[in-house]
Amino acid sequence: MCGIVGYVGKQEAYPLIIGGLRRLEYRGYDSAGVALGGEKGLRVYKRRGKVDDLETFVEKKDVTGTIGIGHTRWATHGVPDDRNAHPHLSHDASIAVVHNGIIENFRILKTDMESRGHTFLSDTDTEVVAHLIEDVRNAAGVPFPEAVRLALKEVVGAYAIAAISADDPDTLVVARKGSPLVIGIGEDEYLVASDASPIAEHTRRVVYLDDGDMAVIRCGAENPEIMAIDDGVSHSPAIREIEFKLESLAKEGYSHFMEKEIFEQPKTIRDSMRGRLNPKTGEVKLGGLSDYFNKLAEAERIVIVACGTSFYAGILGEYLIERIAGVHVEVEYASEYRYRHPLIRKGDFVFAISQSGETADTLAAIRLAKEAGAYAFGICNVVGSSIARETVAGVYTHAGPEIGVASTKAFTAQVTVLSLIALALARRRRSLPEAELLRLAKELDSVPDKVAAALETRSACRELAEDISQLRDVYYLGRGVCYPVALEGALKLKEVSYIHAEGYPAGEMKHGPIALIDENMAVVTVAPLTEVHDKILGSIQEVKARKGKVYAIVTEGDTETAALADRSVAIPQIDELFVPFVAVIPLQLISYFVAVLLGRDVDRPRNLAKSVTVE
Ligand code: M6R
Repeated sequence: MCGIVGYVGKQEAYPLIIGGLRRLEYRGYDSAGVALGGEKGLRVYKRRGKVDDLETFVEKKDVTGTIGIGHTRWATHGVPDDRNAHPHLSHDASIAVVHNGIIENFRILKTDMESRGHTFLSDTDTEVVAHLIEDVRNAAGVPFPEAVRLALKEVVGAYAIAAISADDPDTLVVARKGSPLVIGIGEDEYLVASDASPIAEHTRRVVYLDDGDMAVIRCGAENPEIMAIDDGVSHSPAIREIEFKLESLAKEGYSHFMEKEIFEQPKTIRDSMRGRLNPKTGEVKLGGLSDYFNKLAEAERIVIVACGTSFYAGILGEYLIERIAGVHVEVEYASEYRYRHPLIRKGDFVFAISQSGETADTLAAIRLAKEAGAYAFGICNVVGSSIARETVAGVYTHAGPEIGVASTKAFTAQVTVLSLIALALARRRRSLPEAELLRLAKELDSVPDKVAAALETRSACRELAEDISQLRDVYYLGRGVCYPVALEGALKLKEVSYIHAEGYPAGEMKHGPIALIDENMAVVTVAPLTEVHDKILGSIQEVKARKGKVYAIVTEGDTETAALADRSVAIPQIDELFVPFVAVIPLQLISYFVAVLLGRDVDRPRNLAKSVTVE
């Protein structure tokens, strides 16, 4: 939700900031802007649209300067237009601010400053912060960095900000509370960003700013000065190395990141298992959980909180952990959990699943669980993310950076980790015979190869996508382990194609939705061979009897189901518990091809952002 970049050093800031904004465009892309400082004073250029539009706008403008900040926006307060684009300036135009998050008390602050003569040029909450910093600086007569700190003490809400001042032209100030911020330390230069992707090509040395901290970054200083916003007390920065490879940030010959990420899955699933699963012995080692594993193995129930695709992975976690390990699991939308006064017992085990590790609702749910005395664990993809840092233990999914806004490889990596947790718990709890656990471990180990085979459905999916691209509404039906797959398939289609799609448990059709079936309605049925296959056949017949179109995902060799459907895609046979890994592949491919056929912005679908750091 909004991307922030900042630079201070000896090079020209503008190209570095633009390069960084391109990397962060997945976080928001309805407007973009830069503020450049230095000898020539502050210059702000901002535009509705994407970073390309900003670049066109600044052609022939003065973009010199060795300090600057930039922003790519996902609108919260105020429509996406030039006025509301970041950076925002203070009343006297001496301070520029970019912000990711929401300032909850901005109206009170704004009204107060308006009564004292401030005029505001935008509808945003961010502009209030720029004005407030100036206000505090003038009233308290303190230098710019201290004015930022004192101003932030008055701010309620979530933020990552970067600010520069015409009066202190060599200093970049950044702060975070609830939204991520990373500081890259180069040779005589610093690059800050919402995540490490804009930094990786310049330096591998980074500081992940802690929540509630700010950093004063001066050109030429050996390290940034890190301090708590609350009391201004400094502490030494924890410098870490960026883990991912630069190649993972490129499309590598694919047309879109979504396509690349779909096709990466045999590798990313293998990476999620690497060093954790021994298929010869059936042993599973999850280092990140080891300190708490004995306690977890005795759990009476596990709660999973997540949003979107991660929530659907959570439902699969419920099937897997209950079936394999015999532990009761409850899965909750994080956005509901935090407001429904859930019954959390001291010593409960609450897992947050989140690709980004920054989802505001999931983070809030985990904080709530911690306050109630639960053990909070994380299953995250982004190393060093807020959820990873705020949980006592957890497992990284190791899928590598996921750039496409629609989640694909992160989903299968999450399901891999959940499968590993289920197997590890089952061994410890002796919930299944040893031989059965060994068989399941081998079967899980075969998933990357089966997924590679499922990717061979590419042409069939492309053909099916032609049909679906003509439709207005599509149902996705599944049952048992295929129900969450149907939910995920429907979410993928609507996200990237903007076609209305609903995922439904097949057995629920007759309780209402079947009223919508006629010759204009199509149903994608996730119908591989499982223990409920006969029931799914029944659902297909019900749709056909009402002249609905049926597109089916079937197991290779299941000619009976294929013959019933108008079109079908055949996926490899695998143990029922791991069917979702292979069944989701054609659904991802179909959504991708429909989006391409309809000319959609596949990697940056409208109205969405990769990490949802606001409520
Ligand atoms: O980063 P998270 O996994 O916490 O994100 C949760 C959802 O916002 C995310 O899965 C969203 O639904 C994706 N756009 C799905 O493709």
